[in-house]
Amino acid sequence: MASLLSDLLSESPRAAIGSSVQPSCVPNRRDFLIRASRLGIMLPAVGAALDACSKESSPPASKVATAGESTGTPLVSHQNPDSRADSILHTPHIASSATASATAGAATVAFHRYDPILPPASVSRVLTLNWTAKEAPIRISTSTVVAGWTFEGDIPGPIVHCRVGDTVNFTLGVDGQMPHSMDFHAAQIDPKTAFRSVAAGQTQSFTFKPKYAGAFLYHCGTAPVLMHIGSGMFGAIIVDPPTPLAPAKEFVLIQNEFYLAPVANGVQASDYTKMLAMTPDLVCFNGRPNQYQEAPLRVKRGDRVRFYVVSAGPSHPCNFHVVGEQFDTVYLGAPPGSAIHGVQTFSISPGGGMIFELIADVAGEFPFVNHGFGHGQKGAIGMLVVE
Ligand code: CU
Ligand code: CU
Repeated sequence: MASLLSDLLSESPRAAIGSSVQPSCVPNRRDFLIRASRLGIMLPAVGAALDACSKESSPPASKVATAGESTGTPLVSHQNPDSRADSILHTPHIASSATASATAGAATVAFHRYDPILPPASVSRVLTLNWTAKEAPIRISTSTVVAGWTFEGDIPGPIVHCRVGDTVNFTLGVDGQMPHSMDFHAAQIDPKTAFRSVAAGQTQSFTFKPKYAGAFLYHCGTAPVLMHIGSGMFGAIIVDPPTPLAPAKEFVLIQNEFYLAPVANGVQASDYTKMLAMTPDLVCFNGRPNQYQEAPLRVKRGDRVRFYVVSAGPSHPCNFHVVGEQFDTVYLGAPPGSAIHGVQTFSISPGGGMIFELIADVAGEFPFVNHGFGHGQKGAIGMLVVE
């Protein structure tokens, strides 16, 4: 396995991670604490901006700018001022995910592998999901803890599995300092109402029935959506067709990018300026670089293997490929229609999802990769073992 991977990656993945995200200098602790405390002072200005946005009127720019100036907190203001979408913020906002709750206790957070196995669909045709948006430190490798913004305390959030026509009753609460929201790509619903931003201590509920089968993204849609997805607020909802697909070993892979600032207090914050430049430090399947090299996906010879692959972005596609294999079938949209056959690689846009199937009729170790190798090199690689 090691020799095969070394053919794909010119240096060891662990070394690559280290070189890309280790700080060239470590800011002193006092500086970091000052910045963190200023964040608390600045947040009411963000809340005020959000309230104003939800009322379809821009807050006085001078008011927010004054708040930023008075605290010295770095605010950034890169957006299209003509946009009416809530996902594009009209006012300056924080440029780092390092809120107090996203960093508290970071040094002692344990690593866990994100389970890629598709959980069974619920027996009930009515799903009730009561979720909380939390800002929390997440260990994404032995050496890296990120100041995460999450659904349910993990990156990605939980995998939802249902069927076309099921009723999904969703409620979001917020336990953190920033406002957050939920945007299910599997829903057809008025986003202004259903996907509205929720402040700490409040809740928002909506109901939808998925119309199409497929692998769909969900994400926080609060402005700027780039910052919220980039800090970890995304996941997958898998919708089965009315007639189930053939039995298979089923895995969910969600690709995302991390854009990280230097370590302070044992944690690396997500960096909005890097997100705008679209220059990630890490690209991951299920929120951890290279995790399925170290603990591969395992199937038996003869199995049909089905990957539900979702691109969370926030900005780059996943060019999905399995080395040494070919996809028997790729469903571009709702299965069982939209199938194409005999595929080597297919690109999934940010905000998209597709279903990839292969027949594991050859035993061996098969790397699955983002064949855009600048991103494979940064962690978007894993191993499928056929036994
Ligand atoms: Cu959010
Ligand atoms: Cu979206």
